[in-house]
Amino acid sequence: MIGMAEVKLINIWKRFGDVTAVKDLSLEIKDGEFLVLLGPSGCGKTTTLRMIAGLEEPTRGQIYIEDNLVADPEKGVFVPPKERDVAMVFQSYALYPHMTVYDNIAFPLKLRKVPKQEIDKRVREVAEMLGLTELLNRKPRELSGGQRQRVALGRAIIRRPKVFLMDEPLSNLDAKLRVKMRAELKKLQRQLGVTTIYVTHDQVEAMTMGDRIAVMNKGELQQVGTPDEVYYKPVNTFVAGFIGSPPMNFLDATITDDGFLDFGEFKLKLLQDQFEVLEEENMVGKEVIFGIRPEDVHDASFTHIDVPEENTVKATVDIIENLGGEKIVHLRRGNISFTAKFPKESKVREGDEVSVVFDMKKIHIFRKDTEKAIF
Ligand SMILES: Nc1ncnc2c1ncn2[C@@H]1O[C@H](COP(=O)(O)OP(=O)(O)OP(=O)(O)O)[C@@H](O)[C@H]1O
Ligand SMILES: [Mg+2]
Repeated sequence: MIGMAEVKLINIWKRFGDVTAVKDLSLEIKDGEFLVLLGPSGCGKTTTLRMIAGLEEPTRGQIYIEDNLVADPEKGVFVPPKERDVAMVFQSYALYPHMTVYDNIAFPLKLRKVPKQEIDKRVREVAEMLGLTELLNRKPRELSGGQRQRVALGRAIIRRPKVFLMDEPLSNLDAKLRVKMRAELKKLQRQLGVTTIYVTHDQVEAMTMGDRIAVMNKGELQQVGTPDEVYYKPVNTFVAGFIGSPPMNFLDATITDDGFLDFGEFKLKLLQDQFEVLEEENMVGKEVIFGIRPEDVHDASFTHIDVPEENTVKATVDIIENLGGEKIVHLRRGNISFTAKFPKESKVREGDEVSVVFDMKKIHIFRKDTEKAIF
């Protein structure tokens, strides 16, 4: 008995010659869960999906789908894709060029000899959801890239398989349609309750769609958690820096024996419990990586947070990016640069010397050598 996981990867490795695409990956995706695989280009996302789909055999490790062992090279087990009941939407999808949109979407049901009326009902439902109703009689070559991608999506979701595997299915859509489809896809997945593994390198997509996010880098799993967990409790500098925009600020600092972070140009007083943790970890006198998100660096004249005088820092405004609803402010103090997110009401201008406050409750400390989080 393997438990409730719909898909389970155990110590999966994948090598292509000298390249190790996936390194000792263990991951459980729960029944009905929407799991996002997130990571930069080349980190092994597509390879992982292809192994689950059965398009690629792992070099080592086991894959289970609904308690059935579908891949284990040591035991010589390899269940072919057709028998896995998974539907995959590829990063580079292929539609049947001679078939209409209608027939492309209907195809998987025709293969399964579903009655014509039922097919028609489902094609129209799916087309409506994907905004393809007007295009049902067209051929793929008469569609834009984004429209083709939606047809490919339609062809996968019409099947209602055990598991959806989606590889950047929204990457060809324009920004607005992407936001809309993000919500639609998530809603659809909830309605159908189909376990979904969704690959993206877009952290906003991951944060907004995933029940949980698995962050990968260079073939290795870094962290699995809810969007809040990976955002607020990143386990290392990679996860901390990959999720969030603009990214978290990282600054080198030394922990002083009187409980300060010493940046050279300025100091920040640690909270008592933070200092105690660092003392326990033997970090006093040592260099660490300090992390703080831009939204946790406040304009001193607009902040509501209660900060001791000693944690107010003077800095020069280098550049302001005005996003309308807020301002991204690039600040500098000597040779130390960092970014802050100020409210639109903030009056700061480029070249100003301003007072900023660091919300010490929100800071992160990472080890300098391993880049792992202490908190
Ligand atoms: N068939 C193959 N032969 C050799 N190397 C491969 C093969 N497929 C993938 N790789 C390598 O394995 C690594 C992981 O590739 P993969 O396609 O899984 O990355 P990815 O995370 O999907 O990236 P992207 O976001 O760019 O799609 C890369 O270094 C890639 O070059
Ligand atoms: Mg890929």
